[in-house]
Amino acid sequence: MRFDLITLFPEMVKAPLSESILARAQERGMIEVRVHDLRNWAEGRHRQADDAPFGGGDGMVMKPEPLLRAVRELKREAPGSPVILLTPQGELFRQERAMEWAGLPGLILIAGHYAGVDERVVELAVDHELSIGDYVLSGGELPALVVIDAVSRQVPGVLGNELSAKCDSLPDRLEHSQFTRPAEFEGRRVPEVLLSGHHAEVRRWQKKEGLKRTLLRRPDLLERQPPDDEELELLAEIKRELE
Ligand SMILES: C[S@@+](CC[C@H](N)C(=O)[O-])C[C@H]1O[C@@H](n2cnc3c(N)ncnc32)[C@H](O)[C@@H]1O
Repeated sequence: MRFDLITLFPEMVKAPLSESILARAQERGMIEVRVHDLRNWAEGRHRQADDAPFGGGDGMVMKPEPLLRAVRELKREAPGSPVILLTPQGELFRQERAMEWAGLPGLILIAGHYAGVDERVVELAVDHELSIGDYVLSGGELPALVVIDAVSRQVPGVLGNELSAKCDSLPDRLEHSQFTRPAEFEGRRVPEVLLSGHHAEVRRWQKKEGLKRTLLRRPDLLERQPPDDEELELLAEIKRELE
């Protein structure tokens, strides 16, 4: 899968892309991340890509001409990639989207900066406006990295072990708590069942523990995806224990 990221600050994203799972996925050719400096499409001696807002107000606005030139050129190279603008005004990014987009050939991501981008870019070239949460960041670079990471994890082979993506929290349930050695730490012991080697019981404990977390922390998920028969039984047990 190919990611094209258009930014005024390409250096901001380089380190996170060159470590850990994302670095390995690129080395193995499972994902390709191309970071584009928007100034390459800007004109004039200063390659200016932003300007003062009409009507006044704080901050500069990213100019339409260089951004549209960039998007259109990349769209010609990657016609199957939708154009995503990172903005706090967009649809909230969720795991379902990450899973859906992992099936695409690519994404073209626009990281805004300053006061944002000229609205005509949105009207003419953007397919989705996407927010990573209800807070305002200084730029779209961190949100773009969030999208690249979350989507890449869903690309087959990126995690190496297909099961680990399936076991992760979300979109429907939270994952159970995790423990590693030592079995006892500062007076707290790992749940005995995890040391038992009894696979069916371990699996049941994990399922119940994840369900309990979901009930206590994110009951909305149980409404979005109603419990199946096994979960109903476990939920009844959990509720009895909590009484
Ligand atoms: C300071 S913000 C601009 C906010 C803009 N004035 C507004 O209120 O909608 C600069 C850039 O950061 C990015 N950004 C900030 N918060 C974001 C969020 N929660 N999700 C996605 N992108 C965000 C966007 O690309 C945005 O253009």
